[in-house]
Amino acid sequence: MTTTGPTGSQRQTWTSNRGFILAAIGSAVGLGNIWRFPGVAYDSGGGAFLVPYLIALVTAGLPILFLDYAIGQRFRGSAPLALRRLWRKAEVIGWFQTMLLFIISVYYAAVIAWALSYFYFSFGNKWGNDTASFFVNDYLKASEPGISSELVAGVAWPLALVWVLIIIVLAAGIAGGVEKVNVVGIPLLVLGFGALVIRAVTLPGATDGLNALFTPDWSELTNLNVWIAAYSQIFFSMSIAFGIMIAYASFQRRRANMTSSGLVVGFANSSFEILAGIGVFSALGFLAHQEGVAVGELEGLTGPILSFVTFPAVISEMPGSTVFGALFFGSLVIAGFTSLVSLVVGVSVAVQEKFGLSQRVAAVVVGVVSAALSFGLFATTTGLFTLDTVDMFANNIGVVSSAIAMCIAVVWLAREGRVLRLHLNAISTFKLGSWWLPLIGVFAPTFLLVMMIQKIIDVIE
Ligand code: PFF
Repeated sequence: MTTTGPTGSQRQTWTSNRGFILAAIGSAVGLGNIWRFPGVAYDSGGGAFLVPYLIALVTAGLPILFLDYAIGQRFRGSAPLALRRLWRKAEVIGWFQTMLLFIISVYYAAVIAWALSYFYFSFGNKWGNDTASFFVNDYLKASEPGISSELVAGVAWPLALVWVLIIIVLAAGIAGGVEKVNVVGIPLLVLGFGALVIRAVTLPGATDGLNALFTPDWSELTNLNVWIAAYSQIFFSMSIAFGIMIAYASFQRRRANMTSSGLVVGFANSSFEILAGIGVFSALGFLAHQEGVAVGELEGLTGPILSFVTFPAVISEMPGSTVFGALFFGSLVIAGFTSLVSLVVGVSVAVQEKFGLSQRVAAVVVGVVSAALSFGLFATTTGLFTLDTVDMFANNIGVVSSAIAMCIAVVWLAREGRVLRLHLNAISTFKLGSWWLPLIGVFAPTFLLVMMIQKIIDVIE
């Protein structure tokens, strides 16, 4: 399906508003929800973390999501093109965002490849009793994280499969590929992950896990790092200020109701995130119960170790472990894949528009280049160290500077904020009040700047 763009050219569109919403949810709900949120919340004040988290959602998450939508839908292009049409000099911000997407997609694909292998390993608990040694020594073939080793066939095959599928989906187009994957994937994810959470909360020890996650430590609210963690989580999780939502909105029809869709997407994403926290920590409570220790004494509660070392141990202890292993790793694969699709769409559409390529050629070129880098970094080394470093740069300093630059460029330099607000209000049922401009023009950039300086000081120290 296509509509006519500003230059008279035909632009593809989602087949329906539902298709757009599911694709946007598919982008937002990803590895970040399942392996990032629970650990971050646990480390940053537990139940008290919900306060900065919800404040970040309302003061930056939703307002910047609306900004992304408005730019994409009005200027009908990927981030570099749409921002260029808004203000010529802003194109560079779009390319910065595209670079972040490219970097994230390279390691994101590796994590999905691990999840795909573990989906297979679930059948028969192939990870054995020592799950840490299985992941690091047997699977990633390195005794110390970050030490390179020979090409690991175990990682190479799933990684190749992930990239081949990505290229196929992208080459099939927005409605024919991206939308279809999400229309099938998201309901499947909700069912599969929902079943897993229900099982997890009914396991012995689940309440201890939930207490460990939700017992608030209010003193953490005075810690600036906790606020930084909340804002970073919101940006990564909602996929905002990365240019992806600009690209996705550019495929929306001109008169589609955008702000209401944004509320649905934001609500769905945060609900899924909290659901994941409940599921993951109930299961950890069960593990602690089986091992006769307190949840706080368990090791490996964050990042890749949580999913690929601690969780397999939980699953082995569960009755019906194969089913639950398959459900957990299957959920990671689907959630991750629909987000990876969006990451690569962001890059591929930008390249397509810049160089006047066809969608298929752009999909193949971008897919092959990203896959090659993915292989170079993750199939020949454990990549755990690279992953942490890159994740820290892209998700703290990278995306935050992108958000600051975009807000300032739109509101103060191009002075397009009012026009964008009128644009959204003319077509949407949920109207943006006069609060929106001060939020994106003053509050968000100031707060984000303070946050970024603090982060840089932390890194240097
Ligand atoms: N939102 C995804 C997650 O939570 O895992 C990750 C992501 C996708 C980040 C797309 C950024 C992005 F542009």
